[in-house]
Amino acid sequence: MLDPALTRVRPSVAAADAPVKIAVRELVVHYGATCALEAVSLDIPAHRVTALIGPSGCGKSTFLRCLNRMNDHIPGARVGGQVTIDGDPIYGPEVDPVALRRRIGMVFQKSNPFPKSVFDNVAFGPRVHASAIRCGSARSPSAPSARRPSGTR
Ligand SMILES: Nc1ncnc2c1ncn2[C@@H]1O[C@H](COP(=O)(O)OP(=O)(O)O)[C@@H](O)[C@H]1O
Ligand SMILES: [Mg+2]
Repeated sequence: MLDPALTRVRPSVAAADAPVKIAVRELVVHYGATCALEAVSLDIPAHRVTALIGPSGCGKSTFLRCLNRMNDHIPGARVGGQVTIDGDPIYGPEVDPVALRRRIGMVFQKSNPFPKSVFDNVAFGPRVHASAIRCGSARSPSAPSARRPSGTR
């Protein structure tokens, strides 16, 4: 379990000269009866690299999943406490988790494809953003078409 004594909010060199981007307060996560995070509080400053270091099973991945609400999809997971980004709570009922995940991405330790074809995995991002692409007056060269080329599955 992430040690609450080590994650309490306290002034640091990084936090002293950078605005807080993500603020975490009293974050608690349970998987069923198992408590994975107990009252974790810390500030993550903007424009800095913040590292979480700890032994396997201490809750690093659980914590990171809380930052873009990926724990919403884990059966039995319950999240308490507060997380804000730029001052906005991310666990409010009005928050769209898909829109949130456009702002807070996650790169996985191991490749983690969706249970779809390779093509559909590659096309997933452009398809999610398709409405924004279609609404643009011109197609951006960096926004590839999500149409399936002939000969692919
Ligand atoms: N989906 C899950 N269901 C039940 N328990 C889980 C689940 N994911 C993680 N845990 C438990 O939560 C604790 C923290 O796990 P995790 O966040 O994966 O740690 P770390 O990333 O630091 O290795 C561990 O005790 C782990 O067994
Ligand atoms: Mg992990």
